[in-house]
Amino acid sequence: MSKRISLTQYLIEQQRGTAQLPPQLRLLIEVVARACKSIAISVNKGALGDVLGTAGSENVQGEVQKKLDIIANDVLIEANEWGGHLAGMASEEMDDMHAVPLHYPQGEYLLLFDPLDGSSNIDVNVSIGTIFSVLKHQGGEVSNDSFLQAGTEQVCAGYCVYGPQTTLVLTVGQGVAMFTLDREQGSFVLTQDQVQIPADTKEFAINMSNMRHWADPVKRYIDECLQGKEGARGKDFNMRWVASMVADVHRILTRGGVFMYPWDKREPTKPGKLRLLYEANPMSFLVEQAGGASTNGLQRILDLQPGQLHERVSVVLGSKNEVDRVTAYHREAQ
Ligand code: AHG
Ligand code: MN
Ligand code: MN
Repeated sequence: MSKRISLTQYLIEQQRGTAQLPPQLRLLIEVVARACKSIAISVNKGALGDVLGTAGSENVQGEVQKKLDIIANDVLIEANEWGGHLAGMASEEMDDMHAVPLHYPQGEYLLLFDPLDGSSNIDVNVSIGTIFSVLKHQGGEVSNDSFLQAGTEQVCAGYCVYGPQTTLVLTVGQGVAMFTLDREQGSFVLTQDQVQIPADTKEFAINMSNMRHWADPVKRYIDECLQGKEGARGKDFNMRWVASMVADVHRILTRGGVFMYPWDKREPTKPGKLRLLYEANPMSFLVEQAGGASTNGLQRILDLQPGQLHERVSVVLGSKNEVDRVTAYHREAQ
């Protein structure tokens, strides 16, 4: 049997190697991974653990919270607030940032997360996940504004997908590594390093039910895909839409593809559905680290300067040549 490399060993090697991963950041990642294991246990229990269904509350974005949204949020906060590695946390499920209580040591990092991504899939037993992003606190008293840093400032990003396997996917800026949870051992084991997204693809992911609301460049791109061999692209395309960003991005990291959640005409002043700080930024960092690309149709997502904590953004990410094509269509239409 080939030698198994645990997440801990991988991170220690990152600490010694060119990444020079700071020990406090290593600790932070280990704690997030531990929290994800705990969330995975709740997810797997399902109805037996009384974790399905709605919690009867709404988050700051007016979305109905599921029980698991709140459970996952609490697990991440409780796991991370006492270790001394963080200055604060921000989450999709909290109106404002959560400062580390003063009786605990204050660290130099900021953690942002979407505790449970793909909430609509919880009750129907389809893959869901946790997405996270790590920034450095720039000093001073921590506030919501401390988190408003461009995606290029991320020092780590990742997600954990709770699917047929529980897989943790991580970047500390030295490529993308995937770890599969060995349930018996209770540890994440490295199962793929230096993940690469193929530059070309024949697979797209978009919620087609919104087609009539899309902007023209998005319509043009999808129309051409649908025309298949006989059309401008000269090849047949396949479509997938899980409706959990983690699962759709995981497929793209595994076999390529393009994922889009574009701006649409229903709410013209809303830039998109997905959130910049804890969905689009971490996924864009991972995708770029795997050789893919990510834009909002016009600009690189990682370059965007956020204006508020729960800011939304239009997203086009995945196989580089397809993302470049969609972006070019948007620029031509300007
Ligand atoms: P969340 O469950 O964290 O609110 O995120 C759901 C997001 C994302 O995971 C997915 O790509 C998208 O919403 C699905 O949206 P539709 O239901 O509109 O397809
Ligand atoms: Mn989400
Ligand atoms: Mn969520």
